[in-house]
Amino acid sequence: MICLGIEGTAHSIGVGVVKDVKGKCKVLSNLIKTYKPEKGGIHPREAANHHGLHIAALIRDSVQQAAVNISAVDLVSFSQGPGLGPCLRTVATAARALSLSLEKPLIGVNHCVAHLEIGRGTIHECTDPVLLYVSGANTQVIAFAEGKYRVFGETLDVGIGNCLDKFGRTLGLEFPCGPRIEQLSERGTLYLPLPYSIKGMDIAFSGLLTSAEEYVRKGHPVEDVCYSLQETSFAMLTEVTERAMAHTEKQEVLLGGGVASNQRLRIMVETMATARGASFFVPRKELCVDNGAMIAWLGLVMYASGVRMSLDESVINQRFRTDMVEVTWRD
Ligand code: ATP
Ligand code: FE2
Repeated sequence: MICLGIEGTAHSIGVGVVKDVKGKCKVLSNLIKTYKPEKGGIHPREAANHHGLHIAALIRDSVQQAAVNISAVDLVSFSQGPGLGPCLRTVATAARALSLSLEKPLIGVNHCVAHLEIGRGTIHECTDPVLLYVSGANTQVIAFAEGKYRVFGETLDVGIGNCLDKFGRTLGLEFPCGPRIEQLSERGTLYLPLPYSIKGMDIAFSGLLTSAEEYVRKGHPVEDVCYSLQETSFAMLTEVTERAMAHTEKQEVLLGGGVASNQRLRIMVETMATARGASFFVPRKELCVDNGAMIAWLGLVMYASGVRMSLDESVINQRFRTDMVEVTWRD
């Protein structure tokens, strides 16, 4: 079975084509275009316009790159939520139109669950992980428990990526700022204390962000502040992930989201996993960021397990929670 998936919950519009090979995911193509605001944060309407502008060409190119005929596509899937309303509506409209014109079924999928399933689908040994999902807008620890994907911990304010981007903006760095902050932090030598904020299983970044900005205003070297910001925020993420692993008794941890590219975060989470005798996995970069292949794969898995969706049911859901998904494809 071949599925074409369209992602477009936030900055990125992506189209991927995947194929099922003995229960695992073969990515045939996975094209992404990212909207970059000229200054400041993301404007939902502008991001949606960006997606609308590129979507037709991305569909054409991804089918071409997959070296399949468009008629060989058996299923169309799209990111139904959570995300920004205008972006989600643009993508859903394109997916419906494609499904109708190809006369192929349509399935809307949960974006967060797709980040987890692409790990299970593409990494052979990854079967039942705790996912640390760290992107711009999202920061969640997700695992399968009692028949559902459940959120064991999450940010109470901004996502870790947004926190890094906001901090980077005060330094005058270009968006996305995470990679540049990572480089700067490698030259940091002095740890500056920052608020370590874990409440129950949840975390908060805004206090940390304010304190980091304060250090910069007071003239501390930006390298030290970047280093301290990474060490503190990543330690919080690692702690909550470890607690979820202990609670669920799972032996695998998976990273997902754009911040999963960060080498320091990888080392911290891997060190924790190794100390627990657990396995550590991170998908390749283009499958970690928001991408169409993960949407295609989850659509395919859902369809294969018997899920069907009418046009009426394909309305977007900006607040589509992870635990609202009925998981029909796992025991
Ligand atoms: P979502 O809708 O899932 O929240 P998003 O559009 O914000 O997604 P992703 O592509 O998953 O996107 O992630 C982008 C984020 O990842 C940005 O905030 C960026 O700064 C951050 N990022 C990218 N590379 C690194 C890195 N090496 N270190 C830290 N952060 C990084
Ligand atoms: Fe994402």
